[in-house]
This record gives sequence, C-alpha cells and structure tokens, in this order.
Amino acid sequence: MPNVSDEMPAVATVASDAASLLAACVLFRALDEDTRRALALRAVRKRYAAGETVFAVGAPGHAMMAIARGTIRISYPTTRGRALVLADLGPGEMFGEVALLDGRERSATATAVTPCEVVVLERCHVVPVLRERPDVCLKLLDLLCARLRRSDERMADIAFSQLPVRLAKTILSRAGALERIDLSQSDIADMVGSARENVNRQLRAWQRRGIVDIGLGWIAIRRRADLVAIADAV
Ligand code: CMP
Repeated sequence: MPNVSDEMPAVATVASDAASLLAACVLFRALDEDTRRALALRAVRKRYAAGETVFAVGAPGHAMMAIARGTIRISYPTTRGRALVLADLGPGEMFGEVALLDGRERSATATAVTPCEVVVLERCHVVPVLRERPDVCLKLLDLLCARLRRSDERMADIAFSQLPVRLAKTILSRAGALERIDLSQSDIADMVGSARENVNRQLRAWQRRGIVDIGLGWIAIRRRADLVAIADAV
C-alpha cells in the first residue's frame, strides 16, 4: 500500500491548522483559544493512505490523534485473519486516548479506510491540560462512556441477537437517512461479527423479498419499514 507520507512531508508542525482542527474536535472545543493554540503548537500532523495501518493492537502508544480528514477504522483482530470492526471514526473525532491515559499498549488496531490526516498529540502535552481542566476531563469521560455503552450494546447483540437483527441494525445505522451504503459485504461481515458467506446469503434472501438491492460494494434500502421491523425483533 503506497504511503502518502513518503511523497508529502510526513510530519509537519501546523499550529494554526491544528488549532482550528482542535476547535472542531469535540474534546478540545471547550478549551480557550490560548490553551488550544499552545496545544496545537506541540501537535504534529500525519497523513495516511487508504489501507495504511496507523497502529496495531498491542503496540506501545504515547499519543492520541484527532481526525482532520478521512475515516479511521478501529478494529480488533480475531482468529483466522479476520477482524471485528469496533468503530469507524470521522473528522472531529479522536482515538488513541486509552493507551495515552493508562500508559499501556494499544487496545485495538487503527487503520485508514480512506486517505486520512490526523493531528497527533503526545501524552506529555495532553496530560497537563487534563490536570488543569476538569471540564475537558469530564468531556473525555463522556466520550469514553458513550463508547462503553455502544460496546456493551454490540456485545449483547453479538452474543444474543440473530444475524438478521444485527445485519438490519448495522445497515440502518450506517445508512442514517440515506437509502444506500457503500460498503463491501466482507466489511459488513466484520461489523456484525459473522462470515461474509452468511451475510451474502441473508442479503440475497432480503433482495428476493424486495427489502434491499445489492451490488458490488453497495447495498440499497428498498423497504425501510421491513428492515426496521427486523432490526427491532427481539
Ligand atoms: P488506544 O487503546 O490507545 O488505541 C486503540 C484505540 O481505539 C483506543 O485507544 C480508542 O481510541 C479506540 N477504541 C478502542 N475500542 C473502541 C471502541 N469499542 N469504540 C470506539 N473506539 C475504540
């Protein structure tokens, strides 16, 4: 996979860009302009090509990242070379805070799904801000709680819900108000914690019933109400 950072300056101090990015990041929005600028002065920006690994689970980590551009996939490797997708994160969201906070290794793998640009903040620069600013700590706790809640919900789904329920929920949450999602069936299988063949079989059954249409790398929702009813089944 080509590394964009080989062709462009891999790391650059970008105080003003980084400051405006931090202003867009839900965690640092609350900071006053001066503190944000001081943090931004110490930040470095990195670019990643689509498919490039930002870091792997188990790697040492001393920094967290705020996403400026692109989608970062957080996943956990499973047996047989597969991975469970934990989250896809976009601009304004951050990742890498767990190892930064507990000083242990990375709890999951981060990969660029599309070309990405991230602002990297080192532990030694973030921790003093957290010590000074209880409101930023509370925001961070809020974000961690939201992730914990989502993880609990997904764990319960994977343990107790049938594949059709998990699949319908995933399609609906990915689509939002849109009628179509652009994801491969193996990506979706990694999101619902099943084999691609099972996902394909279910989608083809739904296609025969007119609930969805499927193509290479996309799924279109045709009968949303039916999909919602499947997702809500207990
Ligand atoms: P860290 O452990 O440093 O590196 C992996 C990162 O993935 C982790 O910090 C979090 O930022 C992120 N992460 C881990 N688990 C989840 C999850 N369940 N949902 C969203 N993000 C996660």
